[in-house]
Amino acid sequence: MQIRISDDALALACGADRVTTAFAKAAPDADIRRVSSWGMHWLEPLVEIDGIGYGPVTPADVDAILFGTADALRIGRIEDHPFIASQTRLTFARAGKTRSLSLDDYDATGGWKGLRAAQAMTALQIVETVTASGLRGRGGAGFPAGIKWKTVLDAPAGRKYIVCNADEGDSGTFADRMVMEGDPYMLIEGMAIAGLATGAGKGFIYVRSEYPHAIAKLEAAVARSRMIIAPFEIEVREGAGAYVCGEETSLLNSLEGKRGEVRAKPPLPAHEGLFGCPTVINNVLTLAAIPYVLAQGAEAYAAYGMGRSRGTMPIQLAGNLKYGGLYETAFGVTLGELVDDIGGGCESGRPVRAVQVGGPLGAYFPPALFDTPFDYEAFAAADGLIGHGGVTVFDTEVDMAAQARFAMTFCAVESCGKCTPCRLGSTRGVETIDRIIAARDLAASSSVHPEPVEGSSSSGDPALKERASTRSAQTELEDAVILIEDLCDTMKFGSLCALGGFTPYPVLSALHHFPEDFGLKEAAE
Ligand code: NAI
Ligand code: SF4
Repeated sequence: MQIRISDDALALACGADRVTTAFAKAAPDADIRRVSSWGMHWLEPLVEIDGIGYGPVTPADVDAILFGTADALRIGRIEDHPFIASQTRLTFARAGKTRSLSLDDYDATGGWKGLRAAQAMTALQIVETVTASGLRGRGGAGFPAGIKWKTVLDAPAGRKYIVCNADEGDSGTFADRMVMEGDPYMLIEGMAIAGLATGAGKGFIYVRSEYPHAIAKLEAAVARSRMIIAPFEIEVREGAGAYVCGEETSLLNSLEGKRGEVRAKPPLPAHEGLFGCPTVINNVLTLAAIPYVLAQGAEAYAAYGMGRSRGTMPIQLAGNLKYGGLYETAFGVTLGELVDDIGGGCESGRPVRAVQVGGPLGAYFPPALFDTPFDYEAFAAADGLIGHGGVTVFDTEVDMAAQARFAMTFCAVESCGKCTPCRLGSTRGVETIDRIIAARDLAASSSVHPEPVEGSSSSGDPALKERASTRSAQTELEDAVILIEDLCDTMKFGSLCALGGFTPYPVLSALHHFPEDFGLKEAAE
C-alpha cells in the first residue's frame, strides 16, 4: 500500500506530520511518501492511498480510512476531482505527484528535458524560443520574458547574473512557495536555461524570510543538482523581510547587502543590475515555465491563452472561499468562473461582495464585473491588474472604506521612503480616509438623530469628529473624496515604483465600485 501525504508548509500547518505519524503507527508496512501539494488547500491534510484521496484528515480518522469506513472523507481519484480535472497544469504538472527532492522522480517526469534541448541550441535560439512562446513576467508587470532576456544577451559585459525574485509578498499568494517547496528542480532548470540564453554564469534566488521550508528545500535541491547544471551556479539568499524588497531594484540593493531602497530606472537591471552587471530578474513562476517551453516548444505553450496573454497562469484562490487553492489554467477564464464555479462562493455562506485581484495593490472588483476574463489587457481596461495571480474574496460583511484605509496604511508602513508621493502621500491618504469615515458616520447618525451623537465616529479621533461636526457632514465628505482622488492621481503618476504607484488601485476601486460604504449615494466621478 502506498500512502502519499504532502510536506508542503500549508499541509504541515494543517497537521500533516501528525497524520503521517498516525499512519506509520497504524500501517507499519505501508510505503509512506511525502510528496508535493496538489494545491487543494481546503482538503489538507490530504492523504492519497493507492490513488484514492481523503481529506481533510486528522489522526483520529486513520483507522476508519484503513478499514474502508471513512466515506465522508473519501473524494475518489484525486486526478478526477473537478478542481483538478478542469485545470491545465503546465507549471504545476508534477504537483501532488512527486517527492520534491527526488532526482529520480524529477527525471521520470520529464525533468531536465528543457535544459538538454537548450544545451543543443545557440543562446539566440533559446531567446527566440522564449519570445515566440509569448511568456510574460508572472511577477505582476507582464513584461515579455524573451525581450528581457534579449536585452541581457545583447549587453556587452564579461559578467551577467540571473536573479530569481522569490520575495512573494502579495497577500493571498502562494504559487511561488508551492513551486519552491514542491518542484524546486524545475525552477533550477529554468534558471540554468536562462543562464545559457544570456551568458550569465551565476544565479541567485532571493526568497522571503517568511518561507523557511522553501529555503531549506531549495538549498538541498541546489546542492543535489550542482553537477547537472554546472558550470552554472546558484546561491539561495534569504530576504530582508520587507514587502518593498520584492521590487526588483530594491531586491538588488538587498542582495548587495545594502538597505532595500528602490533605485531609479533607468538604468534597467537588464543593463545595469546586480553589482552593476546586466541582470535578468524574473519571478519564480516565469522561470518555472521555461523548462516546459524548451521541452515542448514555443508553439505548445503559446497554444494556450487569449490575446497577448499566452500560456497558463497559476491562479491563487484565497480569502472567504469554499474551495481555496492553486488553480492553473489558460488565460481567458472569467473572474466569475473562478470565484463562483471553481471557488464555490464564500465559505461563510453569504454572497460574494468584492474580489481583490493582484495582491494588496490590486483593484477590488464587484460581481457586476465578474465577466472580466483573466487577461493582462482586459484587467487593465477595467482599471485593475492581474498582478501575481492572487484572488482574495470578501463577503457582504466587508467594509470597503476600511479596506481602502488598509491599502493606504499598508503603503505607509511598507514605503521605502525614497519618493515623496508615496512616503508622505500614503500617510496623508490614511488621514483623508479617516476624514471620510468620520463624516460618513456622522452623516449616518445625524439622519437617525438630528444632533450629532457623542462617539458616533468609527474613526474614534476626537479632532476628526470635532471637524466633521462643525461643518456639514456632507460637505466634509465631498471635500475629502475630492482630496483622496487628487492624492491618488499624484501617487499614481508621481511615485517611483509600484508600491506608491499602485496603491490608488485598491483605494479608487473601492470608492468607485462601492460608494455607499463611503457614505456616497452615487458612484464617485
Ligand atoms: P515594470 O513595468 O517597471 O517592469 C517590468 C519588468 O520589465 C522589469 O523587470 C523591468 O526591468 C523590465 N523591463 C522594462 N523594460 C525593459 C526593456 N526594454 N528591456 C528589458 N527589460 C525591461 O514593473 P515593476 O515595477 O518591475 O513591477 C511592477 C509589478 O510588480 C506590478 O504589476 C505588481 O503587480 C507586481 N508586484 C508583485 C508582487 C509579488 O509579490 N509578486 C509584489 C508587488 C508588486
Ligand atoms: Fe519607495 Fe514608495 Fe517611492 Fe517605491 S513608491 S520608491 S516604495 S517611497
